[in-house]
Amino acid sequence: MGKPVIWITRQLSDATLNRARRDYEVIWDPADAPGSAEDIIAMSARVDGMIPCHSEHFSADVVAQLDPRLKIIANHSVGVDHCDLPSLKARGIVVTNTPGVLSDATAELALMLMLGAARHAVAGDQLVRSGQWQSWSPAMLVGKQLSGARLGIIGMGGVGRAFARKARGLDMEIHYHNRRPLNPEEEAGAAYHADLDDLLAVSDFLSLHCPATPETVGLLNAARLARLPKGCVIVNTARGNLVDEAALLEALTSGHVGAAGLDCFVTEPGGNPAFAAHDNVMMMPHVGSATVATRDAMGFKALDNLDHFFRGETPPDQL
Ligand code: DGY
Repeated sequence: MGKPVIWITRQLSDATLNRARRDYEVIWDPADAPGSAEDIIAMSARVDGMIPCHSEHFSADVVAQLDPRLKIIANHSVGVDHCDLPSLKARGIVVTNTPGVLSDATAELALMLMLGAARHAVAGDQLVRSGQWQSWSPAMLVGKQLSGARLGIIGMGGVGRAFARKARGLDMEIHYHNRRPLNPEEEAGAAYHADLDDLLAVSDFLSLHCPATPETVGLLNAARLARLPKGCVIVNTARGNLVDEAALLEALTSGHVGAAGLDCFVTEPGGNPAFAAHDNVMMMPHVGSATVATRDAMGFKALDNLDHFFRGETPPDQL
């Protein structure tokens, strides 16, 4: 029997592409454009498996039109909100993701955004870069100190826990909300808040690390933003649709929210241009997991899942 045929939708790391080509017959377009619904449907008749990213959308409508040849979707992402899981399950298509391996990289980006937002990194950079820095004053770009401050974390999965570990090293006091409390070892002194509103009330800084599900979409709305202490700094490296962007913009304008660090937006690619009016908002284009080591690890995890599947075994990260 020949090698299974797989479609790799985007430009994965060289190490991933090389290993994939060694073990599979690979279809991959170096143009690196996101796969449209039409591309996904057409390709499903040509391949046994796919490695997509969160840029390819497997809606119920797309899934209904997939060719029966396609047996497995081995996502190159931990988030799977781009996949209609019940429809895929009903079609008998196996779906996997890449948990664990991107926790540190994403937590590092969250840390950068938290520090950057708290210490006016955007305004400071603009001032120096533009040649407009003509005087110095002790009143200039005065920010919010992290040490001793209370950090609220929503979602204590792999990324949330990695972020808590790093923030502890900055002497922050960790509070969290999660579907269930962690065990004391995982908790490492963090305070659990079963009620999200209770967490918000003590969060000088707030970072989102939960998946986008029907229960969490729009979670940070106007009412919840109002519960935060005045001047709170918000960080989102999870998914854009967890936040009501209009409400956040209003809270930034009123000063109730002091600053924000955003790697995710409701509309991607593109983001929300209205945030650009606020130089206390530091933004990145959804690159939380974009480090060399993590891109390799994600690609290898996706391939490990395919390898298990095509050997007739259950993939380790089957959902
Ligand atoms: C993930 O893995 O879910 C990241 O957001 C990148 O897709």
